[in-house]
Amino acid sequence: MKLKALLSVLVLAMCVCFSAQAKDIVIGLSLDTLKEARWQKDRDMFVAEAEKLGAKVLVQSANSDDTRQIKDVKSLITNGVDCLVIVPHDGAAMAKGVELASEAGIPVISYDRLIKDSDVTVYLTFDNINVGEEQAKFLVDAIGGKGKIVRMYGAPTDNNAKMFKQGQDNILDPLIKKGDIEVVHEDWAVDWNPSNAKKIMNAALTKTKDFVGVLVSNDGTAGGAIQALKEAGMDGKVIVTGQDADEVACQRIVNGTQSMTIYKPIAKLAKKAADLAVKLAKGEPIQATGTIDNGYTDVAAVFLPVIPVTKDNMRETVIADGFHSEKAIYGDK
Ligand code: BGC
Repeated sequence: MKLKALLSVLVLAMCVCFSAQAKDIVIGLSLDTLKEARWQKDRDMFVAEAEKLGAKVLVQSANSDDTRQIKDVKSLITNGVDCLVIVPHDGAAMAKGVELASEAGIPVISYDRLIKDSDVTVYLTFDNINVGEEQAKFLVDAIGGKGKIVRMYGAPTDNNAKMFKQGQDNILDPLIKKGDIEVVHEDWAVDWNPSNAKKIMNAALTKTKDFVGVLVSNDGTAGGAIQALKEAGMDGKVIVTGQDADEVACQRIVNGTQSMTIYKPIAKLAKKAADLAVKLAKGEPIQATGTIDNGYTDVAAVFLPVIPVTKDNMRETVIADGFHSEKAIYGDK
C-alpha cells in the first residue's frame, strides 16, 4: 500500500514536471524599429519558427526610442516571458534592460546588434566586419583603386555601424595612407534615417561634386543618398554601396542607381535565434561558435556569413533564395 502511494506521488510529480515542460513557452521579442523592411522579415520569420517549436511570441517595437524600448522590456518581463530576444536601438542604453532581465532570471539573446556592458546570454549576428570589408572592396574595385569618395556611416548608437566602419577601414586605410583614396566628406546618419542620409549627401554635394563613389552602410540610407544625388543629376553616375538586399534597393541595382548591396540571409538568423530562445527558455544548454567582448564580458556569439550582391548575381542569390521574387525586382520585363 505504501509503495502504491509512493508510486502515485511519483506519477503525479512526473505529470507536474511534464506539464511545466509542456506549459506554453513565451518568448519576448523587443525590436528597435520596423522601419527598414528587413526587420519585418526578422519578426515574421522569428515568430513563425518559434511557433513551430511550440512557443508563443510577444512582440514589441520601440520606434527608435530608448525610453520606450526599456518600457517594452519591462512589460515583457512583467508578462512572464521565459526568454528575451532584443534588437537594441542603443547598444549601451539597453544594458539596463539586460540588468532587469537577469534580476528576473530571464536569459537574453542580443539579436543582430550587440548590447554593451552587460551580462547578455548570447549574441547572434552576421559577420558585420566582413559586411564593411565587402562594401569597401567593391567600391575600390569599381573605381579602379583610386579616387575621391564620400563616406556615410550608420547610427552612432548602433554597435553594428561601428563594426561596418571597422571593416571598411580595414580595406580603405592603407589606400588612404598611400594617397590613392581621398575622403571628401564623411558623417554618421543618426538612427539610420534616410532623411538624415539625404542631408549628409547634400552637405557633401554643397562642398564638391568631384567624387566617384559613396560608401554607404545600408540600403535605407543609400536610398536617402541616391535621392540627393538624383536632385543633383548625379544618380547612376557614381558608385553607391548598401546592405540588406531591401526590395527597393535590389530594384535600384537592376536599374543602375545603386551599385551593390549585402545580402544577409535573415531566415538563418531568425531560425537560429528561435531555436536558441526555446532552448534557453527550457533551461537547456546552447552552443555558440565564437565570442565577442561587450565591455563587461566575453559574450558567446554566432556570426553568420554574408553575400555581396550586384546586378550580375541578383538571380543566383536573393531571387534563388526566395528572398524576393523575380517579378518584384525586374517587374514584367
Ligand atoms: C543592421 C542592418 C540595418 C541597420 C538599420 C543594423 O544594425 O545590421 O541590417 O540596415 O541596423 O536598421
